Amino acid sequence: MAQIKVEKAKIDQKQTSLLIIGVFENEQNFSQSKELDPSVLTYIKETLDDKDFRGNFGSSMIVYTLGKGPMKKILLLGLGKRKQFTDEMARIAAGKAVLRAKELGTKEFSILQFSNLDEGLVEAMTEGIALALYSFDKYKAPDPESVKVEEVTILINSDSPRFQMIAEKAGHVAEAVNFARDLGNLPPNDCPPAHLASVALSLASEYGMKARVVERYEMETMGLGGIVAVGKGSNNPPKLIILEYNGAGDAKPYLLVGKAVTFDTGGISLKPGDKMDEMKFDKCGGCNVLALLRAVASMKLAVNVVGIVPSVENMPSSTAYRPGDIVKMYNGKTVEVLNTDAEGRMILADALAYGIATYSPKAVIDMATLTGAAIIALGANVAALVGNNKQLTDRVRRMAEKTGERMWDLPLYDEFHEQIKSTHADIKNIGGRPGGAITAAAFLSNFVGSAPWVHMDIAGTAWTQDGTYERSYNPKGATGFGIRTLVKQLSEEEKPPA
Ligand code: BES
Ligand code: ZN
Ligand code: ZN
Repeated sequence: MAQIKVEKAKIDQKQTSLLIIGVFENEQNFSQSKELDPSVLTYIKETLDDKDFRGNFGSSMIVYTLGKGPMKKILLLGLGKRKQFTDEMARIAAGKAVLRAKELGTKEFSILQFSNLDEGLVEAMTEGIALALYSFDKYKAPDPESVKVEEVTILINSDSPRFQMIAEKAGHVAEAVNFARDLGNLPPNDCPPAHLASVALSLASEYGMKARVVERYEMETMGLGGIVAVGKGSNNPPKLIILEYNGAGDAKPYLLVGKAVTFDTGGISLKPGDKMDEMKFDKCGGCNVLALLRAVASMKLAVNVVGIVPSVENMPSSTAYRPGDIVKMYNGKTVEVLNTDAEGRMILADALAYGIATYSPKAVIDMATLTGAAIIALGANVAALVGNNKQLTDRVRRMAEKTGERMWDLPLYDEFHEQIKSTHADIKNIGGRPGGAITAAAFLSNFVGSAPWVHMDIAGTAWTQDGTYERSYNPKGATGFGIRTLVKQLSEEEKPPA
């Protein structure tokens, strides 16, 4: 992991191979860099006057300093119109800066604060940099030519420790996101449920958390019928992974539940072959939950959080569960399986019911790549929220507005429950095509009782796929979408320990 630090700017003294300066559109005065060498400054001003570089968002231009000043070269980076500049644009621009620095093959660079200093700006710039630096090259021969960025300095006009702290926190969060990406990107042959379980155990020992892995035979006796049913078809046994972070004494915990289907073939209701490889990302909800626990533990947040990750591989085989099977779930309800590809709700339902019964949480949030219907409804850049508590859903959405992780809520009207009524059991596991993302949530709502709960369907956003917009800080593959929003939510809930 590269080092990202914040430093009070002394541009005339900062030894750096590359100084990145953000320029707003059509702002010729270029006031932010009076400390530059006069001839370099004149050159830049002429470039701007002549409109060779206009500061359009995402554009960039290199200026060589020819030994005039402590920096080898300067990269002017377009920030668009100042009035329209948001934290998310700062995140994207900072990510762009990294991509350019990578192209230029520099090991180290410095970047000037883009606009007026505030906490949001420092957070966004740090995140943009750390997230764009991510790459997944575990399975590639090392390229002897490539140079890795190892050190980035954000130059700001303050030496207040407050901003150091913000950058440090943002660094922890970005590290957690990159951790989730590393897990999500693992190929299914190297990431059976047992692998996620061992990752959880190492996290627990590294960060001083409690961990428990429930094995299949225990799940059978505990009555976790949904997880057992889906897990039956694979030689890689299912695991129920539980991580507990205690940062607030005996306060009621937040319960986070994440779907981790390490590979979703659809089971007996087999999926078509096209893009089936992408179903390795069906574990991303669970990977995000593990990463979230890592984040809150590394930040030592004063909250209690329990993470539950039901993990299975959904395979077709002679031992697989079948359409027509009726499964008894942890809370006693029976489910008629009409499509084995609707497996996510089967395992989440048990994890939710078990988690709520065991921990009486203050609030419950689940993350899952649950339905293709969520992508049909909102596209591949917006996650669907469905819940039973408006206050909680609104809070998540408010946080999402700050983090740039787009989320929108779908309504859970009573009528949707009709669609999952079953002739032979309490409910069935599919509700037909209309409103598929909502009927999936309606199914889950049968297992949360009256606990305040919100479900986040990240089918479209958990990895870069058909329809994903380019974002400098989201390299191809797993995105870790949702982690930053939920860390923000938990940070706001933080209360000092008694
Ligand atoms: N993991 C899939 C959902 C999914 C599909 C996520 C495509 C991302 C991209 C889930 O297990 C699934 O297969 N759901 C079915 C449900 C249907 C059978 C009711 C779906 O969405 O088609
Ligand atoms: Zn499926
Ligand atoms: Zn699935």
